[in-house]
Amino acid sequence: IGRNIYYFDTVDSTNIKAKELAMEVEEGTVVIAEEQTKGKGRLGRDWLSPKGKGIWMSIVLKPQLPPSEVAKLTLIGAAAVSKALEEIGIESYIKWPNDIIVQGKKICGILTEMSCELNMINYVIMGIGINVNLENKDFSKELVDKATSLKEIIGHSVDRKKLLGAILNHFEDLYIPFKNAGDISKVINISKEKSILIGKKIRIIQGETERTGKALDIDEEGRLIVEYEDGTVDSIFSGEVSIRGL
Ligand code: BTN
Repeated sequence: IGRNIYYFDTVDSTNIKAKELAMEVEEGTVVIAEEQTKGKGRLGRDWLSPKGKGIWMSIVLKPQLPPSEVAKLTLIGAAAVSKALEEIGIESYIKWPNDIIVQGKKICGILTEMSCELNMINYVIMGIGINVNLENKDFSKELVDKATSLKEIIGHSVDRKKLLGAILNHFEDLYIPFKNAGDISKVINISKEKSILIGKKIRIIQGETERTGKALDIDEEGRLIVEYEDGTVDSIFSGEVSIRGL
């Protein structure tokens, strides 16, 4: 992972660039940019990506797996980021399945997109955005209450290259056992250990429906186990859900 790096000054979105390159590059290729003019978030949102202030990157993956396995890749990405932050002394939480939270605010989001054919994955683009050296003034009024950066938290700039290296190393360590043997046990342990949801009341938004429940656990397949208010227990795949705190 990351042995091939495509580095750009400005792109619309590294996910879009990675998609264009996906068929011709080898697995593990990383597309990274200083700035994104059309950074994409989940649910059609924009992702703020000012020049030189973050890690805006996409990893091209080509696991030979059915599309139902793709949710696990997002968990691998989140676990790798959280572990890398730990290495530079920052305690973070994973908001299943794809956000990283530090001191109650979002510092990283993951947007996983895929192309598949005949019930097999062609390629997966895992877009990871990390607010590294942004300042509060870079965020809009609406964002500043919800999002922050590593620089705001620790009071000085963080070396983006060092952090990038740590993320890619952890990613590789967690991805290879999964790709080769379907083993995500380590990832699940990290997801649980760093979960901000387990034990909390949450709202689960799935398309038009919204339900309230308590997050109980993450199972061995990476699903979130939820107990709804009527007492029924269900395990949910990350797919189209959006989770809000209460
Ligand atoms: C989210 O939390 O909504 C997901 C945000 C994902 C942002 C990253 S930045 C690099 C990659 N390129 C994009 O356009 N989006 C992802």
